[in-house]
Amino acid sequence: MIHGERVRLRAIERSDIPTFVRWFNNPEVRRYLVAYAPMSTAQEEQWFEDMLQRQQRRELFLFAIEARVGDEWVTIGNVDLHRVNWKDRWAILGIVLGEKAYWDQGYGTDAVRTMLRFAFEELNLHRVELEVIDENARARRCYEKAGFRYEGTRRQVAFFEGRYHDSHMMSVLREEFQEWG
Ligand SMILES: CC(C)(COP(=O)(O)OP(=O)(O)OC[C@H]1O[C@@H](n2cnc3c(N)ncnc32)[C@H](O)[C@@H]1OP(=O)(O)O)[C@@H](O)C(=O)NCCC(=O)NCCS
Repeated sequence: MIHGERVRLRAIERSDIPTFVRWFNNPEVRRYLVAYAPMSTAQEEQWFEDMLQRQQRRELFLFAIEARVGDEWVTIGNVDLHRVNWKDRWAILGIVLGEKAYWDQGYGTDAVRTMLRFAFEELNLHRVELEVIDENARARRCYEKAGFRYEGTRRQVAFFEGRYHDSHMMSVLREEFQEWG
């Protein structure tokens, strides 16, 4: 378990699969994600097996995000570091809060900060980066609050909803995280 200020991160379990299927079949949740088509339980099970192997190879660190609600901890999303590059010491961060009722309450920012602390202080990474669709203003604001800086725009790199969209590259370096942390 990794504790943030208002969230905690835990390992993913096979029993989480039905929750993920529900999340990734919600078009609002999926809108800006790589997962662009409805997802079956069988696909999610296959993804889970692949995920275990990638974690074992240390290419991926994926955790469930839990938020405290009264005396209970509720699973509200996932956060990950993927394509971990051990030589150059960077990784890509991904996050989804599958429970829309928890958006805009600071949980995403806390989960990103908690994952950055894990990346820099436990994995000894030097840089964490990500890509975010231009019009995903909520995610961009969340990443800025967590310490990410804008690096550049990839023009018309993603196609969905009948047109091309720009995406923004963002990153945070270890020394910036320490300054701000
Ligand atoms: C993106 C996501 C992780 C952010 O988590 P979150 O808990 O909702 O974010 P936070 O509450 O920490 O921060 C969101 C910020 O965006 C702001 N915001 C929300 N909608 C906005 C909009 N349309 N324009 C500008 N800012 C907006 C919020 O007010 C908040 O900023 P504030 O604290 O200064 O008021 C979450 O909403 C999510 O999982 N969305 C769906 C999947 C997704 O888009 N993942 C990211 C792919 S790159």
